[in-house]
This record gives sequence, structure tokens and C-alpha cells, in this order.
Amino acid sequence: MAYRFAVIGGDGTGPEVVAEGLKVLAAVAKKVGFEYTTKDFNISGDRYLEAGGDPSVQSLPIVHPHEVEELKTFDAIYLGAVGHPDIAPGILEKGLLLKLRFEMDQYINLRPVKLYPGVPTPLADKKPEDIDFVVVRENTEGIYTGMGGIQYYGTANEVATQINCTTRFGAERAIRYAFELCRRRGNKKNRLTLVHKTNVLTFAGGTWFRTFQEVGKEYPDIEKDYNHVDACCMWFVKNPEYYDVIVTDNIFGDIITDLAAVIQGGLGIAAGGNINPKGVSMYEPIGGSAPKYTGQNVINPIAAIASLGMLLSETGNNKGDEKLVEAGRLVEEAVMRVTPKMKTQSAGRMGFSTTEVGDLVADEVEKG
Ligand code: IPM
Ligand code: MN
Repeated sequence: MAYRFAVIGGDGTGPEVVAEGLKVLAAVAKKVGFEYTTKDFNISGDRYLEAGGDPSVQSLPIVHPHEVEELKTFDAIYLGAVGHPDIAPGILEKGLLLKLRFEMDQYINLRPVKLYPGVPTPLADKKPEDIDFVVVRENTEGIYTGMGGIQYYGTANEVATQINCTTRFGAERAIRYAFELCRRRGNKKNRLTLVHKTNVLTFAGGTWFRTFQEVGKEYPDIEKDYNHVDACCMWFVKNPEYYDVIVTDNIFGDIITDLAAVIQGGLGIAAGGNINPKGVSMYEPIGGSAPKYTGQNVINPIAAIASLGMLLSETGNNKGDEKLVEAGRLVEEAVMRVTPKMKTQSAGRMGFSTTEVGDLVADEVEKG
């Protein structure tokens, strides 16, 4: 049976980096021997504007309901980038990215933080073996639900609330996923760190903390550890080698993974997956649409290629297909043989063009 992958290039440099990921997909499918088809979806800020969408308030759907329904029938979704310089902040984020995350109940945002060989990190004296952990970010709750509101808008009495919606159900499924992942990783640290702010967010933090303790009893083999989010930021810089797997709420996970992306070499390299283990997951580089580099063949496709690797290994893991897991591993290994050849991981300063980096990884996949 052929796998079916939906492809959303999105805006800016999204389509360019996705094209390199698809190049690598073709190479690895041939190598490992699996069949697949892809279907392109033109879901983007550009399309919204062309259809006459208002750039300052959302006036048309960004993703049509029939597209959401169709996307739900695929084995996985491969997304390039979301963001358009002419569209007000929030419209595409809510109308596309968050919409798809919520509609498909992709309750995990999985963000591996790994310093690949030859990649410079701004942290002095840290080596690839020091920066290798995974952040499990809860992806459907917290302050991302849009609960809250605004009163007396535009007056001196303006009041805004943005509710941190935290449920036992949501915390528990994220925590369980993280414990299972920690086992699956089999790192000798064997440690799951809960990150929150229980000293101030005593309600939401309390739910997370108690759930962590209770679920943790089912995992006696794993060390249970807790950090406040502010301290965690400090440790990322000081002692990143401490971490194995982190589980955290939506907004904390959003913020700490940008810091984490920088210590692993920048947004050009950071990959992620929005995962529903029993449903349809969506993989995307963490970086944005980088409009100023669009169409110049200078953007770094490594994050998108690494996301494609995750798409394969996680789809394989969730569907119990060893071949796909193997394919994902081959892609990551190929990436790790290419990064040392690159001058830097920054757009325009890689020593190669976007398409050349894609070719290098595809060649390495072929060589195995
Ligand atoms: C991310 C992004 C998104 C988020 C934005 C674009 C809505 O920053 O994927 O980390 O906050 O989740
Ligand atoms: Mn973010």
C-alpha cells in the first residue's frame, strides 16, 4: 500500500525548502523500498490575498472546511512555512497553523534539540554530545485556545483576559506521551523533566505537577524531575547536557524551543512535528517564511529535510512500520554527514545553494 502525504508549501521560502525535503523523500523511498504519493495543497497567505482576503482582519477562510476534511485522510502532512509580510499578525497563525493543529487534535508538538556535527553553537565549549534532548510541548491547550476577551476596548479602562485553559486530560496525554518517548529514546540519562511555573501558576501548574507525579508512578524506570521555566532557560545555556526529555505546556514550550533552536545552531536547522499519534500529524521546520530570502535559492533547507525525516520516523512509529522508521533514521544520518560540509547554517552563507544542500543530502541517502 502506498503512503499518501499531503504537502503544504505555504508562503515565502516554504515551497523552496519543502521541494528539497521531497527530493530527499524520493531518494529514501527508493533506498528503503516503500511506495508513496504526494498531493500539493495551495494553502497560503498569497492565496488568501489573491482571493480578495482582507490583510488586516480575517475576512475569508485561510483553509476551507473541505480542505480540512481532505487533509484528515492523509497519512501525514508536510508543511513549509506560515507567514506573510502583508498580512496582519495572527490571521495566518490562527487561520492556518493553529486551525490545523486543533482540527486534527495534534496534541503533541515534538521538537528535538540536537547539535549536528560541524554546526556552530553560540554556547562556548559545547559539543554535539552535550546538546541532544527533546521537548514535548503540549499543543492544543494553555493560552493558545483563544479563551478570554476584551472589554472597554480602546478606552483607558480597557481590560483583557487570556485564559490559560489547562485540563487534566490534556496534561495527562502529553505527560504520558513524554514518558513513553523517554523510554523509546533509551538515553542513559533516562530522565523526564516537567517544565512549568508552579510557584506562580499554582492552579494550572498544580494540575500539571500532580498529574506528572501520578502518571510517573507507572514509569518507575524513569527519573522524574521538575524545573521552573525561567530556571530551565538558564540551564539550556549553562548545562544543556543535563536534559533528556522535557514535557511542558503550550506557551512555555513555544518559548523555550526558540532558545533551544538557537543553541542547536539556529532556525535553519530546527525541526518539529505536530503529532496526533492515532491521527494525522503535520511536520514543519520551526523557522518562518523568511520573505526576504524568497526565490533566491539561499535559504537553508536542513530544518525542512530534518522535519521530513521526523515525518518518516514518527509516522512509522505511530503506524508500526519499521521501514519508515528506518527511512527516517537514514535521512537524519545523511543530514549529519552533510552539516559538516556546510560553511554556516545561515541563509546565503552556507557555501551551497538551497538546491545544492538538498542534492547533497539526497546523495548521502543514496550512499546509505
Ligand atoms: C511555533 C510558532 C507558532 C506558535 C505561531 C506561528 C502561531 O511560533 O510553531 O512555535 O506559537 O505555536
Ligand atoms: Mn514558536
